[in-house]
Amino acid sequence: MHVAVTVNGELREADVEPRTLLVYLLRETLGLTGTNVACDTSSCGSCTVLLDGESVKSCTLLAAQADGREVTTIEGMATDGRMHPLQEAFHRNHGLQCGYCTPGMVMAAEALLRREPHPTDAQIRDGLAGNLCRCTGYVKIVESVRAAAGAAP
Ligand code: FES
Ligand code: FES
Repeated sequence: MHVAVTVNGELREADVEPRTLLVYLLRETLGLTGTNVACDTSSCGSCTVLLDGESVKSCTLLAAQADGREVTTIEGMATDGRMHPLQEAFHRNHGLQCGYCTPGMVMAAEALLRREPHPTDAQIRDGLAGNLCRCTGYVKIVESVRAAAGAAP
């Protein structure tokens, strides 16, 4: 089937099998490999992207479900070679170790900050509850999101 999805502001079209998951449209058809796959069972959040501004786990959606809609991936966050404030905050606050979860964390945090520009730590933890990290213990990730929100003490 044919799908037309606006990805990071650019209309992208492709022919995919009806069973194709959104994450594989992004990674394998469109070459946007910044979105990671870890569990493939909607548990870890490493595949998180924005769909019409809301965070979704792209391994849980069919590519067909994104037809006619807007997707933002980690590749769409930086502008003109400058990191997005969330990326900068993760970098400065050591919000990552291996980095495998980081694209999904950043996208989930972006969705959170669009909803709640000045979240409490509890709201940050709640906003990232669907994203697992096996390296950091989450403290530095929460600090990173707090810093990006401009709410750092
Ligand atoms: S790969 Fe999608 S939630 Fe883990
Ligand atoms: S930094 Fe390694 S899984 Fe999060």
